Amino acid sequence: IRRRKISVIGAGFTGATTALMLAQKELGDVVLVDIPQVEGPTKGKALDMLESTPVQGVDSNIVGTTDYAETAGSDLVIITAGVARKPGMSRDDLVSTNAKIMKSVTKSVVEHSPNTIIIVLTNPVDAMTYEVFRTSGFPKNRVMGQSGVLDTARFRTFIAQELNVSVEDVTGFVLGGHGDDMVPLVRYSYVGGIPLEKWLPKDRIDAIVERTRKGGGEIVNLLGNGSAYYAPAASLVQMAEAILKDKRRILPAVAYLEGEYGYNDMFLGVPTILGGNGLEKVIELELTDEEKQALDKSAESVRRVMKLLD
Ligand code: APR
Repeated sequence: IRRRKISVIGAGFTGATTALMLAQKELGDVVLVDIPQVEGPTKGKALDMLESTPVQGVDSNIVGTTDYAETAGSDLVIITAGVARKPGMSRDDLVSTNAKIMKSVTKSVVEHSPNTIIIVLTNPVDAMTYEVFRTSGFPKNRVMGQSGVLDTARFRTFIAQELNVSVEDVTGFVLGGHGDDMVPLVRYSYVGGIPLEKWLPKDRIDAIVERTRKGGGEIVNLLGNGSAYYAPAASLVQMAEAILKDKRRILPAVAYLEGEYGYNDMFLGVPTILGGNGLEKVIELELTDEEKQALDKSAESVRRVMKLLD
């Protein structure tokens, strides 16, 4: 048996936090990759993290590099490279810069790890995952994006706070693109196995849904010069764990759709099964007319952004 190898591309706020969380969970050895202009800081961050492992009691090697040869044979690659949004920007404003970065990063990743599984975080994530998918030539089970774990984490946080109960006992359910028109499905949200609608009146739930939709923007406005990274990193690590340990967890992910929910040749956030083969299945649910309309609107926004890809 050998340790699993996980490469994290982009050693900025999210990438570095993800690397540390992966190591803390002892999910494997971590290779943190960034561009030559920041070679020193990338190596420095990785070494600093490595030096935390004796204290944490974990055996995970962490290296920082600008050379993709060091990523060779990765079991999993997580892409966080790219620019983050600033106050006043939407995720979609990042599309042209980040699409170029996705192309070059993907080519280098695939050259050295042709059998890996890729999770994309870079925004706008639905379109960026599509870019990585078509550049990689990988089958659809080996390319996915992160959005729903984070969106439901925000929803679960707000519900748990409101009810003063454990976050662990709150489950949430979000469909659609990772934008302000994402579709939180209240009727599939539970607290301790009891439907959310039995716990809170509609106006309170509506307010929490609205805060969840704008959750990314709330953080962007507070930080002033970047976007969220702790909860995004934790979300990536949950997906990574499901795959690396072949847990077959039911988690929302940005998945390639071929007819599911009535959409074709695009990536969108849907419930999935994540296991050793990556995104093993898209789970299809029946939606009410109202939910389907909301999802159509979200899918339409994703399509608009996809048109900006060349
Ligand atoms: N290859 C590798 N790394 C790159 C490349 C590239 N071609 N281009 C940029 N990077 C690196 C930057 O040098 C930087 O270190 O990506 C890193 C991005 O880090 P931050 O600027 O700290 O951004 P972060 O907050 O981590 O967000 C990254 O995740 O949530 C999304 O919207 C967010 O798209 C953004 C991404």
